[in-house]
Amino acid sequence: MHTTITCDTITNHQLEALAEHGYTIIDNYLPPPMIAALQQQAIRLRDAGIMHQASIGKDETNRIISEVRGDSIYWLDDAGQTPEQTDYLHTMQALQEQLNHCFFLGLFEFECHFAVYDPGAVYLKHLDQFKGQQERQITAVLYLNDDWQQDDGGALRLYLNESENAVFVDIAPLGGRLALFLSGRFYHEVLPAQRTRISLTGWFRTRSLESR
Ligand code: OGA
Ligand code: MN
Repeated sequence: MHTTITCDTITNHQLEALAEHGYTIIDNYLPPPMIAALQQQAIRLRDAGIMHQASIGKDETNRIISEVRGDSIYWLDDAGQTPEQTDYLHTMQALQEQLNHCFFLGLFEFECHFAVYDPGAVYLKHLDQFKGQQERQITAVLYLNDDWQQDDGGALRLYLNESENAVFVDIAPLGGRLALFLSGRFYHEVLPAQRTRISLTGWFRTRSLESR
């Protein structure tokens, strides 16, 4: 039976980590049954062929997109199409209020998509703010993988220093883990995995200039 989750925001300690370091990793953010349900929904969408090849930013290079970014994605609509999706969006709305309260970011909306990376697929080093589009303020990635092992690869590599490639943290995509980081600060990439890698990836956004 579906139950509404109560764990809807993050602790002060986690907020402080976000303020101090610009990122924070929260394990077991949501109960395992909810993670399992969201994972199944992502797989079902993929198997039904309604996900599409993700694209990249505005200033496209001539590279084949799948070499830069190999995931298939499906955008959630505002209401969510299942109780778990709706719950997740409510949880993120509560988190948005908490973030606004603490950081005065003026976050206005949350957008998110399921992402499925087949084995070997990557997303090369990038920033989540595109040129001329700074609305994305905070990236929130919820991982939906069962029993992920170190050997499975697929880490999110977060570069801590813009000018230094050697300084990074690797974050394994463990089911139930939520990674939060400042979208405009950290270059990051998704390393190839041995297994299918599933996530629900989103962004807290400020209002775009056009719609102000
Ligand atoms: C993205 C992204 C990271 C991840 O979709 O922009 O960087 O760990 N995802 O899935
Ligand atoms: Mn990204």
